[in-house]
Amino acid sequence: MTTLTRLPADYVQNPHEAHDLLRAEGPVREVILPHGLKAWLVTRYDEAKIALTDPRISKNIQNGGHLMAKHATETHVRREVEPTLAVHMLNMDPPHHTRLRKLVTKAFTARRIELMRPRVEEISAGLIAKLNDGDEVDLLEVFAFPLPITVICELLGIPIDNRDDFREWSNQLLSFGTPEQVQAAAGAMAGFLYQHVTAIAEAEPNDTFFSALVHADDSGDRLNTEELISMAFLLLVAGHETTVNLIGNAVLALLKNPEQLRILKDRPELIPASTEEFLRLEGPVNVATFRYTTEPVELGGVTVPADEILMVSLIAANRDPQRYENADQLDVTRSAQGHVAFGHGIHFCLGAPLARLEFDVALTQLLARFPNLTLAAEPETLGWRDSTLIRGLHTLPVRLA
Ligand code: HEM
Repeated sequence: MTTLTRLPADYVQNPHEAHDLLRAEGPVREVILPHGLKAWLVTRYDEAKIALTDPRISKNIQNGGHLMAKHATETHVRREVEPTLAVHMLNMDPPHHTRLRKLVTKAFTARRIELMRPRVEEISAGLIAKLNDGDEVDLLEVFAFPLPITVICELLGIPIDNRDDFREWSNQLLSFGTPEQVQAAAGAMAGFLYQHVTAIAEAEPNDTFFSALVHADDSGDRLNTEELISMAFLLLVAGHETTVNLIGNAVLALLKNPEQLRILKDRPELIPASTEEFLRLEGPVNVATFRYTTEPVELGGVTVPADEILMVSLIAANRDPQRYENADQLDVTRSAQGHVAFGHGIHFCLGAPLARLEFDVALTQLLARFPNLTLAAEPETLGWRDSTLIRGLHTLPVRLA
């Protein structure tokens, strides 16, 4: 028997404290989220990895939809998913997932990503060139947001003029907006992407990533229009909501730990490897990622019944003291290999090489140009976005120097 724990109202603002308490009680606990959803929360590293690979634990959105309704308490705002945006691989189990992932992998090759490096450097340098010593800015607004959205829009062939719309829509979709706001944002996004996908499909194939995706062919199997819209949606949201917050969370962690900042300033060659430590300690996604049990599953001695919502907290797993020594401390010289910030198993992040590339370029250029930047607000006054999917700040005010 496990007891049902009501997570504190400030869970999203202070998840680590709640996770430490739960983890000390057991690997998996039954909880009620502050907005009123009953679920089982995994906080230990070993059980998180097992849960992410157990085929009895599903990511299928159809299971999810009916279980969200079943386990919602009266205060929970149930979100309707726009069907055209939902048929993407992160919402599917094999064999559908396998098929979609195979087709996208044909276009999203490691070579294509590495070829992006000079362009990512150019975009980052262009943003930094607009900033001056002494400026007080929101680093998310002027740097961390425009870099990845520009990169992903270029990959998808989407005009950059639309990026503010995308930010607004995606913000509505990932936060606890009202059902009307979520619907409106999803409809606008789906409408835009439909036009974009049909335009590329009708044009001559070319060497760009999105053209390669639209025309990807696996022995005659192709993505249909709906699948392309959902895939573009997944890539757009996954491609910028994440990296922007990794940059923001990492810069905040460095400004709160000046001795660690000094190490990277003195030895910038450590930055690429330190990316893993920032992902581990301040991973930008998934306070918890949702899964659904299709059968009773035993995890670390706890049996989760069938038809339950299972939330695997990647940020809790990455701070499990059984896995990492001084797990709550930033140590840019540690080997943080094995973290689960990019997930684990068949849904492991497709964009990990691109995310690592963007982060490496961003932090290297930022620290080289503004080695003495400081926080322009008390750390306690900075709030986190109200989302269980994204772990990111509302703003990051800094003084450049
Ligand atoms: C999946 C994290 C950047 C595309 C995932 C998952 C995680 C993740 C945790 C698995 C979620 C789950 O199993 O529930 C991150 C982090 C990033 C990042 C921390 C940046 C720091 C990107 C970028 C792209 C991308 C830049 C695309 C350009 C995807 C896709 C999936 C995915 C397509 C779904 C894979 C599948 O279902 O097979 N990501 N991501 N991600 N990510 Fe990322």
